[in-house]
Amino acid sequence: MTDTATLASTRPWDGLILGAALATLDDDTGYAEITDGALGWRDGVLTFVGPRDALPDAPSRLAREVIEASGWITPGLVDCHTHLVFAGDRAREFEMRLQGASYEAIARAGGGILSTVRAIREAGEDELLRQSLPRARALLADGATTLEIKSGYGLDFDNERKMLRVARRVGEVLGVTVRTTYLAAHALPPEYNDRADDYIDAACEWLPRLHAEGLVDAVDAFCEGIGFSPAQTRRMFDAARALGLPVKLHADQLSDLGGAALAAEFDGLSADHVEHTSDDSVRAMAAHGTVAVLLPGAFHVLRETRLPPLEAFRAHGVPMAVATDCNPGTSPLLSLRQAMQLSCTHFRLTPEEALRGATVHAARALGLADRGVLRVGAPADFVQWQVGHPAELCYWLGGGLARGVYAGGCRVA
Ligand code: NIG
Ligand code: FE
Repeated sequence: MTDTATLASTRPWDGLILGAALATLDDDTGYAEITDGALGWRDGVLTFVGPRDALPDAPSRLAREVIEASGWITPGLVDCHTHLVFAGDRAREFEMRLQGASYEAIARAGGGILSTVRAIREAGEDELLRQSLPRARALLADGATTLEIKSGYGLDFDNERKMLRVARRVGEVLGVTVRTTYLAAHALPPEYNDRADDYIDAACEWLPRLHAEGLVDAVDAFCEGIGFSPAQTRRMFDAARALGLPVKLHADQLSDLGGAALAAEFDGLSADHVEHTSDDSVRAMAAHGTVAVLLPGAFHVLRETRLPPLEAFRAHGVPMAVATDCNPGTSPLLSLRQAMQLSCTHFRLTPEEALRGATVHAARALGLADRGVLRVGAPADFVQWQVGHPAELCYWLGGGLARGVYAGGCRVA
């Protein structure tokens, strides 16, 4: 064996990226930054996070591939709330809303979520995947390496299953982590008109069958006047609990039905939207470690004015995550970085809060304790950004700032 070959076989790491500043977020405040950083990985896991001059050996002896970089590296972004598997679009409804129709009025007239349900039911599984992949690719291109994807436009066993299968396939095709959430309690399908309780019975009965196929990581519901009542949500959550599945909830988006407190009562991973969440519910969230998932895309598109109780979340130490809510109705948003931008402009999050919201707090909203920070032992999910400071991630509207997006040590965008 030649010297070079011996060296290659003994180089411990698969990759090493040098020269960028690292926003490790591996501390409670600030970016926990490292200038002139070095990030090494092997078998998909980070093996070194520190300054270049602390490397234990010459880079060429440490890794098979050595990359010189500049700008900043952050943990891969975690989009913890999406409905990105859908068919068709609802651009026409967008026009109607601009002419004065409300989201609720369109939904009550059989449009809204139900129009996407019709499109989903018509699409075959491959077709649904074909339509969904470009959206997932767009999210990856702007830094996402973990995606949550909900069902909720199928509303019968076969079509909920189809959506969840497509969600899993998105992860396989793109090489990123996908967490699936069962959201059959999203809207009442027409075949159950005026029989919401019967529909919840059916949705509870489908859950164990889908779970047995490995298709469900968490359970969600839309607890709202145009969705399901707290009592119906509770039944869905009981079915989840019976299987040991964690819950999350579309809570208090358009009115306060006590949804966030209900999610907390079930030790929910998160309560999402939360514009109308009361102080008592915030306290319940704090007591149960339930994350507040802010969805500024839906707030923006619906031109909402009621802000989530941000000061109360801060005061009670409720972690705030930020997600796209990528969906065809209220948030046709294909960039988590853009959601971070909107969370700063609409909700006055600091850029640091927004970055934590789209990484470490979002990971927690998915029950993934292993990611969202740059730390030895974490998955090698990271993004190299062409920026001079992390605040720029929230400053630019658009612009393609991500230079390299890595999931499990492999370049995915
Ligand atoms: O998160 N609020 C309910 N669900 C989605 C909207 C889905 C739709 O309109 O298609 C949301 O905003
Ligand atoms: Fe949603």
